[in-house]
Amino acid sequence: MKQSKFLVINGPNLNKLGQREPEIYGSKTLDDLIKFTETKLKMHQVEIEWFQSNIEGEIVDKIQEFTDSDKHGLIINPAAYSHTSVAIFDALKMVNKPIVEVHLSNTHHREEFRSVKLTAKASTIIMEGLGAKSYYLAVLSQLDD
Ligand code: DQA
Repeated sequence: MKQSKFLVINGPNLNKLGQREPEIYGSKTLDDLIKFTETKLKMHQVEIEWFQSNIEGEIVDKIQEFTDSDKHGLIINPAAYSHTSVAIFDALKMVNKPIVEVHLSNTHHREEFRSVKLTAKASTIIMEGLGAKSYYLAVLSQLDD
């Protein structure tokens, strides 16, 4: 069976999961979410590169690198940059492969400003409110088997 390769990008403050507003984001750390996702996907032929940055330009660089790579799909939680970043939106527009935008929380149940998502306009799929299962289900959405 062919191996499917994915890049998962997590934006600002997601390195603080577990400590950060646990009533919204849950008690799992980013490492816990990575382990959970990898375990759930064990039976699939999937290879995932995980990247997290608090810096907008680093995320833009990583998206550009992805565009030229042999990876099949991009899963991105741009976090707060989803609501503000024209630079990340522009970088995503250059991607000619599937992009799944993920938000752990359902942002429509939260502050009004979180409903505006610049990056979602460049994403193929957007998934919200699935918590710890978000990355697992995002990858699964891109598999044929
Ligand atoms: C988030 C939602 C954003 O509004 C917020 O700024 C985040 C996380 C989410 O995963 O629910 O940092 O993207």
